[in-house]
Amino acid sequence: MTSELQKVADLHLIAKVLEPKEYPLQGLKSMKEKSLTEHTAVLYKGYVDNYNRIVQLIRKTKPKDANPHYSEIGELRRRLTWAHNGVFLHQLFFENLGGDSKAPEYRSSKMITTDFKNVNRFKKEMLAAAMVPPVGWAVWAWSALDDQTHIFVLEEHHNSCPIGVVPLLVIDVFEHSYYLDHKSNREKYLNKLWKDINWEAVEDRVELLQRFMKMKK
Ligand SMILES: [Fe+2]
Repeated sequence: MTSELQKVADLHLIAKVLEPKEYPLQGLKSMKEKSLTEHTAVLYKGYVDNYNRIVQLIRKTKPKDANPHYSEIGELRRRLTWAHNGVFLHQLFFENLGGDSKAPEYRSSKMITTDFKNVNRFKKEMLAAAMVPPVGWAVWAWSALDDQTHIFVLEEHHNSCPIGVVPLLVIDVFEHSYYLDHKSNREKYLNKLWKDINWEAVEDRVELLQRFMKMKK
């Protein structure tokens, strides 16, 4: 965190202020430059700005005002989940794009084969899940609770969020991801997007997870 941002954090009694990351992705098959720039530099940045704003505003609320009906703190707490998940799901999504590897690498492939029989079946299940939410996400994630991977559908991103999971592959299916380039044809977007998956990034996540699991034993 830069010293300027640390000053803001100190002023508002919060641990840290998030900085938007840059994603210089080029030559994607699923998204043209204009829609990608809108997604990364405008929409994602908006999530980061609002996350910082909400975290700061929560510190200014009065805990005694909280109730199940309406309170400023209640609305801010609800929007915190929206902003937090919006920031990090986008980061995971952009980071798992832009690769030139053609298929899941060794560790990911092994995990996929264990939990989904084969990569082709996993692809079909993942893309089918990505067709489900009116707006939201498809997420392949490892569950710490049953020690296996699942494909989850997140409606928007403050609802239906599974607990105790580590995301490994994230696909954004909010309309802003594909409408500019593919109009309402989400299926076309998804088929192109599959060729944009950065399997090296997915492999890094799986490797990190497996190292962590080994440390636990
Ligand atoms: Fe998005």
